[in-house]
Amino acid sequence: MARASSLAKFTHPGEKVRLLLSAARIQRRIRELAAQIRTDFPGEQLHLVGVLKGAAFFLSDLARYIPGDVSFDFIAVSSYGKETRSSGQVRLTRDLDSSIEGRVVIVVEDILDTGMTLSYLLRIFLQRKPKHLRVAVLLDKPDRRVTAVRADYVGFTIPNEFVVGFGLDYAERYRNMPAVGVLSFTSSKKKAPE
Ligand code: IMP
Ligand code: MG
Repeated sequence: MARASSLAKFTHPGEKVRLLLSAARIQRRIRELAAQIRTDFPGEQLHLVGVLKGAAFFLSDLARYIPGDVSFDFIAVSSYGKETRSSGQVRLTRDLDSSIEGRVVIVVEDILDTGMTLSYLLRIFLQRKPKHLRVAVLLDKPDRRVTAVRADYVGFTIPNEFVVGFGLDYAERYRNMPAVGVLSFTSSKKKAPE
């Protein structure tokens, strides 16, 4: 169990992390999602596509909890600056290794926020003619959505706060924290991320 005090080991000077989802709770929920996914596609080979880097841990746990035939691949995207982000400018920086045509594809993301990243990816993947295309996200922040995209499998719906841990970063830090917490700043020099 990740207690609030254990988050201190990961916390950077001038920053504070408040526990939102313990490591045990996250693992329990991923097991449930894995079972649900297998129930929805019994006997099918499932191809998980993780969005780097945030989804790395979620994908690796999900893949191990889904029984049967599972393969996976990774994709990487980057969004341009803040002003272009709102116009949906997402760029593919690493494409898949193999074709997804005719396969049962589950896109695995850390968090669904504005929805820009996922709507871009779904548009691309649909053109590649998978047999089925589904979306699994560990976290969903529906308050921030600007596109109509939705996930088929959601670990936790969370309020509009900036979270770190279990793959999610602030300035590339906190990804390795096994729990998810809300980040805030104790030094007045730093501003909260948007
Ligand atoms: P979207 O395109 O706005 O849905 O953005 C999704 C991406 O934004 C995620 O893959 C994360 O990299 C990042 N992101 C959104 N909210 C958070 C957060 O609370 N903490 C860390 N990263 C976040
Ligand atoms: Mg990300």
